Amino acid sequence: MDKTLTLGIETSCDETAAAVLRGGRELLSNVISTQIPLHQKFGGVVPEIASRKHIVNIMPVIDEAINKAGVNLCDINQIAVTFGPGLAGALLVGLSVAKSLAYALKIPLIAVNHLEGHIFANFLSAPELEPPFLSLVVSGGHTALIKMTDYNSFELLGQSRDDAAGEAFDKIARVMGLPYPGGPEIDKLAKLGNPVAINFPHPKVTGYDFSFSGLKSAVLNFLNTAQMKDEPINSADVAASFQKTVVDTLAEKTLSAAEEFKLDKIVLAGGVAANSSLEKNLRTACQRREFKFFYPTKILCTDNAAMIACRGYYQKTFADSTLNAVPNLGL
Ligand code: KG4
Ligand code: ZN
Repeated sequence: MDKTLTLGIETSCDETAAAVLRGGRELLSNVISTQIPLHQKFGGVVPEIASRKHIVNIMPVIDEAINKAGVNLCDINQIAVTFGPGLAGALLVGLSVAKSLAYALKIPLIAVNHLEGHIFANFLSAPELEPPFLSLVVSGGHTALIKMTDYNSFELLGQSRDDAAGEAFDKIARVMGLPYPGGPEIDKLAKLGNPVAINFPHPKVTGYDFSFSGLKSAVLNFLNTAQMKDEPINSADVAASFQKTVVDTLAEKTLSAAEEFKLDKIVLAGGVAANSSLEKNLRTACQRREFKFFYPTKILCTDNAAMIACRGYYQKTFADSTLNAVPNLGL
């Protein structure tokens, strides 16, 4: 068995993370230092604060990942680091450290696309998983349907034309006075509400693209109108009805794409993959169609460095010393 040790480094947004992976699937450590409490009082991530916190945390986080893995830094064979998409200043912290370590240790450096990383979280949660499959990537910044025929072959079938699914969750939550990040809060509140109480419009986009800005405006209008008329709002019903509209839209498109492209494995990825209703909806739909359904364990859904190490391991292409951050990197 391959014993290559990959150190993964992730600093694209508000988590400072490092992980050590043996071979392609054996996770030896996965350390995540979250900045969420720091950004909460601002209602979202403040880029400069994120960069400054990464620079403070990155070395202790790497040290902890190395120690927890029970290895020495000099045992590491390669370093995989996120180079985009993400916040420029945040990405640069991880990149500078990764480049310096690779240079000092004289080991290869691998530049990883964060979105591809999210998909690879599934290989760690389900070691038996192999391509080909269809992946729905739903995060704070992206919503995309991707056909993966091989570890290094990604075909973008569709993506959001405006807000990402997670962004819509976060914005609605913010208006409802819920703390950042809003996705988990809406998820919790929705459990107490009636998902068919309010009929929000389903986004109407043909093909496999998505759009959530119209739905977001509809929910905001609903809340504003009720407030102006001084009518009581059942927040749990709003959360449940909004969540159902998003989840139904995501699930419908995913299942149609799986049928059209004859893919019987569906792989959920990204922070919104932690949504209990999305997971339940897709799981039930997959069972009915005899599709296999995969989604990462909760800790691997949101940003982490284990998924970056795993993506890096399978990538087999290396970066040179001029590697730079690409904040708006696509697939
Ligand atoms: O993948 P991720 O950690 O960061 C990005 O790459 O963007 O995703 C973060 C997003 C946030 O928008 C957050 O609200 C959302 O994932 N999220 C959820 C849940 N947990 C996290 N959205 C809905 N339900 C959840 N349980
Ligand atoms: Zn992410």
